[in-house]
Amino acid sequence: MVETSSERGRPETAAAGFEVRPSRPSDAGSFLQMWRGVVAERWFVRTETVRWGRRYYRRRFRHSWTEDQASLVAVTGPGGQVVGNLDAAREEGPVTRHIASIGMAVAPEWRGRGIGSALMEEAIRWAREARVEKLALSVYPGNEAARAMYRKFGFEEEGRLTGQSKKSIGYLDEIVMGLWLIERPRDADS
Ligand SMILES: CC(C)(COP(=O)(O)OP(=O)(O)OC[C@H]1O[C@@H](n2cnc3c(N)ncnc32)[C@H](O)[C@@H]1OP(=O)(O)O)[C@@H](O)C(=O)NCCC(=O)NCCS
Repeated sequence: MVETSSERGRPETAAAGFEVRPSRPSDAGSFLQMWRGVVAERWFVRTETVRWGRRYYRRRFRHSWTEDQASLVAVTGPGGQVVGNLDAAREEGPVTRHIASIGMAVAPEWRGRGIGSALMEEAIRWAREARVEKLALSVYPGNEAARAMYRKFGFEEEGRLTGQSKKSIGYLDEIVMGLWLIERPRDADS
């Protein structure tokens, strides 16, 4: 059972002006501000409308480091402004519970400063601790920054789902990527 969360500060991220830690209920308002900004960009994430409000995220951020999920934020400044987040959630089905899916975002003005990488490192640490065997995600083909970051962490492209997203900007393919945290099963394609 994973019960402990990482609240320790990391010197390398502190020097870069941010800290990565599990989300707290008090992060809800600041998170929503960041998330609305990323959603408004329209190109990078599936979400087109932010449906849930502060109350929903306050509740959700109470369980930010469990056996089934990790909800991480990157925060900056004395008020702990949220400038990035990563959610990892274990699949619920009995035969897919070894996999956790990831979604993440960094505020536009904070990109390219190592926040995405710091969030991913912490997510991988959670996954190993929770004995997740594989991390999975999907990414739009034109999202070069995200694809490069996932490749940097060893994610491999496993396929392309055509027109999988029907967004206000049109249909978008999705590339599915995976990172095995155990040796890849040899008989998986039988
Ligand atoms: C994808 C995203 C989370 C990356 O976060 P970030 O904080 O900018 O990432 P980092 O600064 O840690 O960079 C990590 C790696 O990403 C790649 N990368 C970052 N910005 C890049 C860019 N503009 N072009 C190409 N590669 C880029 C590099 O490989 C980089 O590693 P390096 O610095 O060692 O070369 C961020 O761009 C983002 O939030 N984008 C919008 C939302 C989104 O796309 N979410 C993911 C949906 S699948």
